Amino acid sequence: MCGIVGYIGDRQATPFLLDGLTKLEYRGYDSAGIAVFDGKDIRIEKTVGRLSTLKEKIKNDLPPGSLGIGHTRWATHGRPSDRNAHPHSDCSGNFIVVHNGIIENYLPLKEKLIERGHEFKSETDTEVVAHLLEEIHGKLERSKSDSPDLFLAAVREVLKTIEGSYSLVFMSKLFPHEIICAKQDNPLVIGLGEGENFIASDIPAIVSETRKTFILKDGEIAIVQKNSVEIQDRNGDRIDKKIFYVNWNSAAAEKGGYEHFMLKEINEQPKAIKDTMRGFIKQIRPARGTPAPERIAQDDSAIIFPELKWNPEFLDNIDKIYIIACGTAYHAGLVGKFYIERLARVLVEVDLASEFRYRDPIVDEKTLTIFISQSGETSDTLAAMKESKRLGAKTLAITNVIGSSLAREADQVLYTMAGPEIAVASTKAYTTQLILMFMLALYMSQLRQTLSADRTRELISLLRKLPAQISETLSDVEPIKTFAEKYGFNEDVFYLGRSLDYDVALEGALKLKEISYIHAEAYAAGELKHGTLALIVEGIPVIALATQKSVYEKTISNIKEVKARDAVVIGIASDGDEELEKYVDHVIHVPETDELLSPLLAVVPLQLLAYYAAITRGCDVDKPRNLAKSVTVE
Ligand code: G6P
Repeated sequence: MCGIVGYIGDRQATPFLLDGLTKLEYRGYDSAGIAVFDGKDIRIEKTVGRLSTLKEKIKNDLPPGSLGIGHTRWATHGRPSDRNAHPHSDCSGNFIVVHNGIIENYLPLKEKLIERGHEFKSETDTEVVAHLLEEIHGKLERSKSDSPDLFLAAVREVLKTIEGSYSLVFMSKLFPHEIICAKQDNPLVIGLGEGENFIASDIPAIVSETRKTFILKDGEIAIVQKNSVEIQDRNGDRIDKKIFYVNWNSAAAEKGGYEHFMLKEINEQPKAIKDTMRGFIKQIRPARGTPAPERIAQDDSAIIFPELKWNPEFLDNIDKIYIIACGTAYHAGLVGKFYIERLARVLVEVDLASEFRYRDPIVDEKTLTIFISQSGETSDTLAAMKESKRLGAKTLAITNVIGSSLAREADQVLYTMAGPEIAVASTKAYTTQLILMFMLALYMSQLRQTLSADRTRELISLLRKLPAQISETLSDVEPIKTFAEKYGFNEDVFYLGRSLDYDVALEGALKLKEISYIHAEAYAAGELKHGTLALIVEGIPVIALATQKSVYEKTISNIKEVKARDAVVIGIASDGDEELEKYVDHVIHVPETDELLSPLLAVVPLQLLAYYAAITRGCDVDKPRNLAKSVTVE
C-alpha cells in the first residue's frame, strides 16, 4: 500500500506531485520520491523517511518539467531506504516506474534478468518491472514492430509477464508525450483537466485540481497524454469510460483548522452519521437535480434503502450471515452481529477477512456475506469477497469509497457517507459503519416482521437524536484530556465491558494501541477472572464501560474485582447513572439512549482518550509507526 501520483500538462509537475503525495501520505510514509522530465532528461529525487524529508531535500532546487510521477511508500519488499524508495528505473534510465502492490513472481524474473546482464539497484519487486520494460521495448524496436505506440506495446507485454497485484505508472524519456497506467487489485484514478491530466491512487490527491475523473477497473490500461486520456483493455480494445464526478470538495480532505486529521474526523462524526442516515452528503446533492434518496421514512416508521436491489424475499429467507472485515471495520462487524441477531433474528458470524477463506466456511445460496471496509480496497477483505462469491453466497459491501474495488465486486453496496477519512486510525468510518449496520438490521427486521411497529419507531427516533448527542459528548473534552495526561505514560491499560460494551472496548483498545503505542487489552468483563485478573496490580489504569443496562449489575461486580486489586478505574456511564461513581475513581458520562445505540456514544470518549494520550506521548497521531490507512497486501 503506497501512494502514486502523476502529472502531464503545461504547468510545472513538481508542485502538484508533492502536494498530491502529501494527500496520499496516509497510504504509506516510510520513503518518498518523484521523477520529472525536464525536456531532455529525467531527474529522480527520492529519500527514505517522510515526504517532508524529500521536500526539504529539494526545496531550493525543484526538478523542473511538465511531466512527472511520484510515490510515497510503505515497505513490503526491501526495507525502507533511499535505494528502495520509488521511482525505479531500468539500466538505461529510459524507463521509470512507480508501483503499489506486489509482483509475486519477481524473484524468478529478477534471476533471469540478472543472468541476461541487468544490474539491480534495489531490493524491491518493483524494479524488475522497469528492467523488463527496457528489455521488451528493445526487442520490439529491434524487430521493427509496426505498433503505433511502442511504449504502450511494451507495457502490455510486461503486464503479460508479471503476476500479482498492482497499480503501475510508467513514464519514459523516449516517449515524453504520455504516461501509461495499469491497474490490477490496487486503486488508480485519472483526473481530467483542460490541457493537463492527473493520476493518483486516491481522489484527495487530485480533487483540488478537478472533480472529473476516470476510476480505473482491474485489467484497464490508461494512456494519459496532455490533451487526452484513452482507456483500453489488455487486448488494446478501447473502452468507452464514463466520467465519475467527485461529489465532495478539497476542503473535505484538508485539516480545516484542526491540528490533526484524526481530531477533525472525530469532530465530523455528527455530520457523518447524519449523512449516512440520509444516504447522501448534505451540501452536495446528487448531480443534475435528481431528488436525493432518503434512507429513513419521514414519519420514522421504516428504513428504506432505495439502492438495495435485492428481491426482499431473499433477505427474508436468509438463514445465515457472515460479516467479514479487518481492523476497525471488524469491530464494527461485531456490533453489526449483535444488531442483526437481536433485531432481525438471523444467525450471524463475524470473521476476520484474513481468516475467513482459509477455514472452509459453510456457505450456500441462503447465506449472505457482508463485507465492511472504509477504503473498499483492503486486500484480505477483497480476497474474502471473491472466495465467498466463488462459494455461491450473495455479497453486500458496506464501504465509504464510491467506486472502490469492493463496491464494484459486490452484488450490492451500501455506502457510508463519512466523507474522506485520512487519519490512519479510523473514527468516523467506524461510527458510520455502526449506523449502517443498525439500519440494515432494522431493515431486515421489517422484512422478517421481527419487531413491532412501535419499537421500530422508537429506535428510529433515538437514531435521529444521535448526531446531537455525539456533539454534546464532543463539547467537553477537558476531563478526557486530563486523564490522558495523567495516565498517558502508563505502559499497560485494560478495557472492560460486557455485551456491546465489550465490542466498544475492543475498538477503544485498538485506538490506544495504534496511535499512542501503549499496550492496551480489551476483555469481556466476565472473562477477566479466567486469567487476566493476574495482571491487575496497583495503579494500573482500567477503562470500564457500563452503558449496557441489561448487564449493568454484572459489570459492577467485575469492576469491584479490579478495584479490589487497586486498579485505577475510569468508568464510562450513561447520563443519569449515579451508581457507578461509587465504585470507580473517575466517571465519564455520555448521553442516555437505548443500550443498542450506546456504542455510538461510548466510543467517542475512547477515541478522544487515545488521541490525547498520543499527543501527551508526542506520537505522530495521523501517521502511526509501521501502519498505513489502506492495506492492499495480504
Ligand atoms: C488498516 C487501517 C485500519 C482499518 C483497517 C481496515 O489497518 O489502519 O484503520 O480499520 O485497515 O481497513 P478498511 O479500509 O478495510 O476498513
